[in-house]
Amino acid sequence: MTSQLRTPLCDLLGIEVPIMQAGMGNVAYGRIAAAVSNAGGLGSIGGIDITPEEVDEEIKLFRKLSDKPLCVDLGFPANAPKGLSDVEVPELPGPLKQLKSELDEHGIEVKPTTDQAISLADNKKKLEIALDHGVEVIACALGTPAWVVEACHAKGAKVMSIVGLAKHARSAIRNGTDIVIVQGTEGGGHTGEVGLITLLAEVLEFATVPVVAAGGLVKGAQIAACLTMGAQGAWVGTRFLASKESGSEDVFKQAVVESEYDSTLRSLLFDGLHVRMLRNRFTEVWEGHEDELSPYPVQRVLTMPFKYAAMKANLKTHMSLPSGAGAGMINDVPGAADILNRLAEETVEALQGAGKLVVG
Ligand SMILES: Cc1cc2nc3c(=O)[nH]c(=O)nc-3n(C[C@H](O)[C@H](O)[C@H](O)COP(=O)(O)O)c2cc1C
Repeated sequence: MTSQLRTPLCDLLGIEVPIMQAGMGNVAYGRIAAAVSNAGGLGSIGGIDITPEEVDEEIKLFRKLSDKPLCVDLGFPANAPKGLSDVEVPELPGPLKQLKSELDEHGIEVKPTTDQAISLADNKKKLEIALDHGVEVIACALGTPAWVVEACHAKGAKVMSIVGLAKHARSAIRNGTDIVIVQGTEGGGHTGEVGLITLLAEVLEFATVPVVAAGGLVKGAQIAACLTMGAQGAWVGTRFLASKESGSEDVFKQAVVESEYDSTLRSLLFDGLHVRMLRNRFTEVWEGHEDELSPYPVQRVLTMPFKYAAMKANLKTHMSLPSGAGAGMINDVPGAADILNRLAEETVEALQGAGKLVVG
């Protein structure tokens, strides 16, 4: 029998391998989530960037493809406006005027867009839909309000809180979360500034619930290091982004594969909160123009039409490409189940190797 990777988290969530595919807007939907859950991990649907109706459809798709547990990732930032119309939009700042003229040259029109992520009302609706479907796990990004935990527990769902600071882990635990996902600065998408190895050690000192590691994890040896420290699992985004079943554009997957070790930056340019992403023209136009950034959510409302225009045209130089710092180590686009199996095998191998370091 081959050795298996198992932690108490597996029993808590009804999974076989303590590796989770992270919720990712525009990337992680029913298809990839089913591939990961069917392979024994925990698959997630990134519910933040899609409409409540789309959340419903993706959960239904998942249930058609898998009878295993599912996670739906939602966002409840404390300072979210009720809806888009509540956000007053200023004139386009210089960097976006520049982007607009470059997109014009490519014949790409920048049209107004709706933005699901901004609306607290829609996120409440998405939570209700997920819980009505009996979704087993809800992941909360950007804050875990107590009412979300109560709603989930009332329907038998577990809650995971993604945090980038020890104080946020404390408040999520106080609000009743079941699992804390500690994301180091290496992570793709919204991310804090403390490195994973430090943040994990800090949170493990006081956590009374299982702790999961995230941020830059693309190799089993990294996961093994986190498990050795006391984490019970891993939440992995960018590695799964570059998979066959991920919903991201082929040019995005290709950009991850082609990226170098210094290809990502962490910036406020996407929505006024810190986001790690691949450097490209979308990020370069802001260099030296940081004083023209608006706070969240105004910055998000300003950039969203640009994100969607470049995405629709598949123009990777001008797309928003959230990505973790581990992207430079990714060289292929395999199936999601293969990624999960590879990570689990590498983790076991590294843990067995580490065991040999202790003599006597
Ligand atoms: C393309 C992309 C989109 C993401 N979108 C979301 C999102 O919509 N909601 C969320 O909570 N986190 C989002 N994240 C963060 C992930 O859930 C996860 O925390 C992160 O990817 C882990 O770091 P890694 O990418 O280095 O593995 C996103 C990450 C990426 C790479």
